Amino acid sequence: MPAPLKKQPYVAPGECANDSAIRLSEVISAMSYALDLVGGHRENHAVRTAIIGQHLAMQLKLDTDTQSALFYAALLKDLGCSSNAARMCSLFQADERKIKHDIRLIDWTSQLTTARFSMSNARRGGSFTERLKAVLGIAVNKEEASRGLINVRCQRGADITSMLGFPQQTADAILALDEHWNGNGQPLGLSGSSIPLVARICSLSQTLEVFITEHGIDAACRVATQRRGKWFDPEIVSAFSAIARAPEFLAAIHHTDSRQVLQSLEPHNQVRWVDEEKYDRVALAFSQVIDAKSPWTLRHSEGVAMIAVGIADTLGLSSVHAKEIHRAGLLHDIGKLGVSNLVLDKPGKLTDEEFSQMQSHTRYTQSLLKRVSVFERFADYASAHHERLDGTGYHRGLKGGEITLEARILAVADVCEALTADRPYREGMSAEQTLAIITADSGSAFCPEVVEAFAHYQDSCNLFEQLKNRPAP
Ligand SMILES: [Fe+2]
Ligand SMILES: [Fe+2]
Repeated sequence: MPAPLKKQPYVAPGECANDSAIRLSEVISAMSYALDLVGGHRENHAVRTAIIGQHLAMQLKLDTDTQSALFYAALLKDLGCSSNAARMCSLFQADERKIKHDIRLIDWTSQLTTARFSMSNARRGGSFTERLKAVLGIAVNKEEASRGLINVRCQRGADITSMLGFPQQTADAILALDEHWNGNGQPLGLSGSSIPLVARICSLSQTLEVFITEHGIDAACRVATQRRGKWFDPEIVSAFSAIARAPEFLAAIHHTDSRQVLQSLEPHNQVRWVDEEKYDRVALAFSQVIDAKSPWTLRHSEGVAMIAVGIADTLGLSSVHAKEIHRAGLLHDIGKLGVSNLVLDKPGKLTDEEFSQMQSHTRYTQSLLKRVSVFERFADYASAHHERLDGTGYHRGLKGGEITLEARILAVADVCEALTADRPYREGMSAEQTLAIITADSGSAFCPEVVEAFAHYQDSCNLFEQLKNRPAP
């Protein structure tokens, strides 16, 4: 007996009382938590980095254009961080989020330090031989392990920043984030003032944030002094020394509501506001960050969004409603940024513990989307795409009428895209196989009305051909 479909009237965004003007900085700082997750950082790392950057900018008396470029560069600096996650995971054969975090606490320009780091982190928990193999693999790929990984991250981050419509100054800063004052940084080995000023401030700010959070302000002062003239611009380190003990600086970085503190630091004459087009761009940009996390999902989110809209249109939902479902499709797997590639890309069957980690991605999706007022509207249903009518899904174990129409649409769209894509353990399935699997589960896992609409839709637009012929990202 098919579970009843719970139909609720759709309230368009314009009809919401709280849909007043929203700052772009509010949206980006909320979404930056996704980037904290992928970089293995503590919550609000990017926000605190931006707070430190703004305090340095004020101390250096920078103009507000530069302050604004820095504001967003600090928040978005890890946009490309997912692009090298799979490679870093396979190189170290370890949880890349931990590697990404811990490597920020060492001087990776020192060969000895890097060798020690590899020895203590590569293939943790493996046998001596396995660990030795992993360490040798890192040593052999040393060049790629530094220049290649950083290059991919910085270039991708800069590209997405430009796609979001931020000024070149912001994109250039992200591109040069890991360049060092003495020329020993990556990827281009720029030195001194040839490194953009915003990148120099951002580079110091992100290091300070990690040290302040992990070891306190004294440790942050020490590392700034030790790396002065090596990693960091001496003048910017001096600016930091001047404010490091100031009560207002310490209060700002230790405040429990970092995002609110950051809002107050945005240059007043540079405030940007979001409109519908901007929300779409933010959703699209973050869908690219999500899909870049694993080589097996390079076009997943966009594909799910497209299929979900096709089903919604076939069911006769309004264009405004379909637009919201499109955004939900783009962001439904944003929680995967909090899951290690050890699990996401595992070629074999997941252990119970790994499966539980995989399941956590929808929890992350829900909590991440709830942070942004306009995305909060679909946080519950976007994060319900693995729920099944018979109650066998996750993470809430919803059943039947507890699962909304939108979640039912996303569930079918998600499975369709996933089945047709290649996976580490199998090739992408044919149209016939995919349709047969979805149809077989209609009424038990999937909503029959949605499956029927999906069947009409795929037939009307040659969906499987479209999916197969999508250009590489
Ligand atoms: Fe998912
Ligand atoms: Fe998905």
